[in-house]
Amino acid sequence: MVKVTVCGAAGGIGQPLSLLLKLNPKIDELSLFDVVNVPGVGADLSHICSNSSTSSHLPSSREDKTALAESLKGSDLVIIPAGVPRKPGMTRDDLFNINASIVRDLAQGIAENAPKAFVLIISNPVNSTVPIVAETLKKNGVFNPQRLFGVTTLDIVRANTFISQKYPKETKATDFNINVIGGHSGETIVPLYSVGNSKSYYDKLSEEDKKALIHRVQFGGDEVVKAKDGAGSATLSMAYAGYKLAESILKALTSKGEEVVECTFLNLDDSIKGAAEAKKLVKDLDFFSLPVRLGPNGIEEVKYDILNNISADEKKLLEVAIDQLSGNISKGVAFIKK
Ligand code: NAI
Repeated sequence: MVKVTVCGAAGGIGQPLSLLLKLNPKIDELSLFDVVNVPGVGADLSHICSNSSTSSHLPSSREDKTALAESLKGSDLVIIPAGVPRKPGMTRDDLFNINASIVRDLAQGIAENAPKAFVLIISNPVNSTVPIVAETLKKNGVFNPQRLFGVTTLDIVRANTFISQKYPKETKATDFNINVIGGHSGETIVPLYSVGNSKSYYDKLSEEDKKALIHRVQFGGDEVVKAKDGAGSATLSMAYAGYKLAESILKALTSKGEEVVECTFLNLDDSIKGAAEAKKLVKDLDFFSLPVRLGPNGIEEVKYDILNNISADEKKLLEVAIDQLSGNISKGVAFIKK
C-alpha cells in the first residue's frame, strides 16, 4: 500500500500534480492537504476511476493541527508545493519570509506523523527551504538524508526542451536528459550541456547562442512569471516535473536491476555513498543538486564523478553557483537554529 500526501494540494501546482498522482497505478491512497479549497479539489479528483482512493484535509482554524496529522499519517511520500509563488520583479529569495515558516510547520508535521516518508520540496526558495526541512527533521531526531529531495527537475525539463528548440528538425525534447546541477534559482542553476548526447549539438552553437541558452535555463522561470503577468509562476510544467521525480522514486522502490537516476538538491551527508567526494568538489557545501541513483531507500548514491568531467566554461558557472548557494543554505539553517 503506497500513500502519497500533497501539502498545498489546492494551489496552482498542487492541483495538476494531484491529478497526475491520481493516475499513477502504484499509488493506493492520495491524501490532499491545504489551508483553503481542498475539499472541492478532493471531491473532484475522487470521481476519477483510477487505482487510488482520495482524501482531503482542511484545518478548521490556524491552531488546528489534526487535519495535517491525519493527512500525513502513514504517508510513504510527501510532496510540498505549499506557499506563495513569485510575481513579476520578484526573485525566489523574496519568497523566503512567507514560505520559510510554512515549510517549517509542514516539516514538523512530517516529523511527528510520517518520519520515514520520502519528502519532496517544491516550495521556493528551494536552496533555503530544503535546509529548513532538514534542520527541522534533525531537531526532531528523525532526519534521513536519503529521503529528502529538493525538486529541481523543472530545470532539467527546461534544459531538454530549450536545446531541442535550437534543432527542431533534428531533435525532440525527449532525446535529451541534461544534467542540471547546483541549486534552483538564477545563477545557481548550472546546466551541463557538455556532458552526454547534448554535447555535439551544444558545441555547434555560436558563443553568443551558448550564453543565451544557459541564461534561458537559469532564468526560464521568469518567462512564465512575465507571461502570467501577476498570476503566479510555473504550475503545469512544474506539476509535470514534480510528478516525474515522484514517479522515479516510486519506480526505484520496486526496480529490479534497472538503474533509476534523477538530479535532486540533496544534503551531502557522509552516510550517502559518494556524498563526501561530492562535498569536497563543491567547496564543502552541505547541500547541492547532483544526479543521484535511486533505490528502495531513496538516494542510494551521489554520482559526483560528473563534476570531474565538465568543461572550463561550466567550471566557471559552478564557481558562481557555489558562492551564491552558500548564503542561501546558511539562511535556511539559521532560520531553524535561531
Ligand atoms: P499557489 O499560490 O497557486 O498555491 C500554493 C498553495 O499553498 C495554495 O493553495 C495555498 O493555500 C497553499 N498553502 C499556503 N500555506 C499553506 C500551509 N501552511 N499548508 C498547506 N498549504 C498551504 O502557488 P503555486 O504556483 O502552486 O506555487 C507553490 C510554490 O512552488 C511556490 O513557493 C513557488 O515559488 C514554488 N515553485 C517551485 C518550483 C520549483 O521548480 N521547485 C517551480 C514553480 C513554483
